[in-house]
Parts: sequence; C-alpha cells; structure tokens
Amino acid sequence: MSSADVLVIGLGYVGLPLAVQAARSGFQVTGYDTSTRITESLMAGRSHVDDVTDADIADVRSLGFRCTSDESQIGSPGVIVICVPTPLSEADGPDLSAVLAATCTAGRVLGPGALVSLESTTYPGTTDEVVRPLLEKVCGLQAGVDFSLVFSPERIDPGNAQYGLRNTPKVVGGVTSSCADAAVSFYGKICDQVVRAKSAREAEMTKLLENTYRHVNIALVNEIAIFCHELGVDLWDAIRCAATKPFGFQPFYPGPGVGGHCIPIDPNYLSYKVRTLGYPFRFVELAQEINSRMPAYVVDRAAELLNQNARALNGARVLLLGVTYKRDIADQRETPAQPIAHKLRSRGALLTYHDPYVAEWQVGDRTVARAEDLESALADADLVVLLQAHTCYDLGWIARKARLLLDTRGVISGDLTTPGVQVM
Ligand SMILES: NC(=O)c1ccc[n+]([C@@H]2O[C@H](COP(=O)([O-])OP(=O)(O)OC[C@H]3O[C@@H](n4cnc5c(N)ncnc54)[C@H](O)[C@@H]3O)[C@@H](O)[C@H]2O)c1
Repeated sequence: MSSADVLVIGLGYVGLPLAVQAARSGFQVTGYDTSTRITESLMAGRSHVDDVTDADIADVRSLGFRCTSDESQIGSPGVIVICVPTPLSEADGPDLSAVLAATCTAGRVLGPGALVSLESTTYPGTTDEVVRPLLEKVCGLQAGVDFSLVFSPERIDPGNAQYGLRNTPKVVGGVTSSCADAAVSFYGKICDQVVRAKSAREAEMTKLLENTYRHVNIALVNEIAIFCHELGVDLWDAIRCAATKPFGFQPFYPGPGVGGHCIPIDPNYLSYKVRTLGYPFRFVELAQEINSRMPAYVVDRAAELLNQNARALNGARVLLLGVTYKRDIADQRETPAQPIAHKLRSRGALLTYHDPYVAEWQVGDRTVARAEDLESALADADLVVLLQAHTCYDLGWIARKARLLLDTRGVISGDLTTPGVQVM
C-alpha cells in the first residue's frame, strides 16, 4: 500500500458510504470489519446498506476497493477512519468496547505520518482521553508529533437524496492544530467543504449538540401533540402555519417515538458526561422521558379509536404499516414499532404488519405475520396504524380502504375528511 491509501474500520451505515466516496475520490481504499458475513458479501458485490447499491460496490471494486476481516491483510495505510458502533451499555452509559478494539487495530497498523480519524459518535473528551493514550501505547508513536489524530463527526442521513457525504460540510477537530491540518487536507478531497473545530472536543460536542437539538425539539412537539388532541387543536396545521415564518422557527413533527442509531442513543453519551460533573442534563432526560412514552400513547390512542367504534383492542385485528425507524429505508434499529407492537400484543391485539422494506419481523421472541397483499390486509384489519409513511404508500387509497386508521405521522388527514381516520 502507498501512503495515500485509506483504511476504513467498520463498514456499516457510516463506514461503507465513506469508503465508497473515498474510492471515487481517487484513494485506494481497504475496508476492515470484524464481521466476515459483511466483508464476504461486499467482496461478492452485495451491499447491506440502504444508501449503497450493489452497482456502487461493483464500481468501487473496479477502482480497487477491497474488504477484509483479517488484520494481517490491511497493510500500512496513510489514513485510518474509525466508524464502529457506539451503543449503550446495560446501565445506559457509553459502551466504547468497539471503539477500543478498533483503536487497537489502528494502533497495530499505524505508521509515522499517518492520520487517524474517529467518526463514531461519542462524548467530548473521548479522542483525547481514551483513544489517544491507547493508540500511543499500542503503536509506540506520539499523536501530534509522529502521527495525526482527529475527531470528525459523521452527519450521514440515510435515505436523504439531497445531502450526501460530498455536499454535507464535514467538521474536523484535531488533538493538535497540525493534526487538524492533516484532516482538512484528507477530507477536502472527498467533501466539498471542511469546517475546522477548535479541537477534537468541540468536534465531538458538535455531533451531540446536533442530535440533542433534534431529540429535544421532537420531544417538545410530541408533548404538545398530546394536549392538542385533548384541546381539539390540529397541531399539524399549526406547525404548517408556523413554518411559513421565514426566520426563528424550524418545524419538527410529532411521531410514534424516536428511532435509529442516533437520536435515542447519542444524547445518553452527553448526559453521561454531564453526570460526571455531579449534576443531570435535565433537558435530555426530560426529552427521553417524553419520547419514550410515545409508543404507549400510540397504543392508548389505538384503543380509544376502537372504543369509539364499539370495538375492544383485545381481540382486534391490527395492521401496522411501516415498521422501520425512518421512511424509505430498511433500518429497524430502535424503531418505535417494536414497543408499540409489544404493547398492542400484550393488550390482546392480533397483529399483522406490512412493510416493503422488511421481509421478516420479530417482536420479542415471536414473529409477526407479514401481510403480502396490502389491499386484502387493509380489508381484513379492524384498525390500521400508520407508523412509517414510506413514499410508495398511496395514502389517500389506504385511508379509503381502511375501516379505522390511526395516522401517527400526520400525513393522511390534513383536509381529508374520511370517517374513521384519526391523526395522532
Ligand atoms: N447510522 C447513522 O445514521 C449514523 C449517523 C451518524 C453517526 N453515526 C455513528 O457512527 C458510528 C457507526 O454507526 P453505524 O450506523 O455505521 O454502525 P453499524 O452497526 O451500521 O456499522 C458498524 C460496523 O462496525 C463493525 N465493527 C464493530 N466492531 C468492530 C471492530 N472492532 N473492528 C472493525 N469493525 C467493527 C460492525 O461489524 C459493523 O459492520 C456510531 O458511533 C454511530 O453513532 C451513525
């Protein structure tokens, strides 16, 4: 390998698109993932990530992209980007085990002059206090002197056709200023704009600030949605009107709860860090409390709608439409559809689901029956709960076919006056 080569550690939703973009920007890219299932299927030309197609893999394979689960095949890359998961531990604190393991891998293949960039979301101080000493110990070199070390938050938005890696500004923060220079030079070749943070800590904080901002604002509209229903106010219409203000307001929308790998998890990393100071991060804890109650609220609203139509939830046939955490993608991580299904089932509902992106769906230790034909599933169901408005759904048609419909996304009714349709 030449010194211009890039190693991406962790080939998931973040690492794979980055590897593809780097390969298309002229780098010789190697992907390293501990999962042989992933590296073997990528080497066979199959992508497991929504935003990367098999054709993309074929294209970058022809440009020299290769993957391995064997550390001895890595060589000595000039740039190492760490994109491994940062989940929560059992105590809901940070679980940095994958970051630590990936740091050791990086340390073993790192040579003088290389750049290491941590992209996994984590609390401020991780790069300096956790990654740096471990890396220095494993490789025997010094950060800021012999090699460069930065944090660069990933801002990928799966399913977003407008903003991808190239046209989303990339933030970098170095443990020293010269480290940041090296990262600006690298990322400047694969992204249109690189934004320099004061240090790695500010770069780490940037990502958590962005996600906490979303988390708190979603909780705000979720709480408002609950009392607006009781007050007889159409919050969706109020948001539509407020969003016409050209300054000082950004619309956020209520929903059945927050999902994905970022919003439900990342703010915990920040509240963990704040708690080390001896006090809580109250905004985040409140947002968590409100957002995590939304699945139970959806189930109560489902029961209420059935009740208004002289039906009990116990024994009702309930069809869940769209069970992924986000529209138009297959990712089910932390999807609120799980707790909703669980609660509906424990109250006696007979469940089926329909989702073009999910071939099989397990809730707890039981599989939920998949509706293959949407029209007959709509006809069979006592109640339909729209959880995810995938663009392929013909919402007006669904509203007409469903006996009763609870729309948790506020996309169906609006000016629609179909009886039996309720917006959450
Ligand atoms: N998914 C998103 O939309 C998103 C957006 C921004 C930031 N992030 C952050 O980026 C990081 C990665 O998230 P993701 O969604 O890509 O995760 P992912 O689970 O999709 O992929 C992570 C990959 O890392 C591999 N892995 C785990 N330990 C490893 C190790 N020691 N060495 C090599 N490979 C290893 C796993 O096998 C997996 O394929 C997380 O910190 C996440 O919070 C995710």
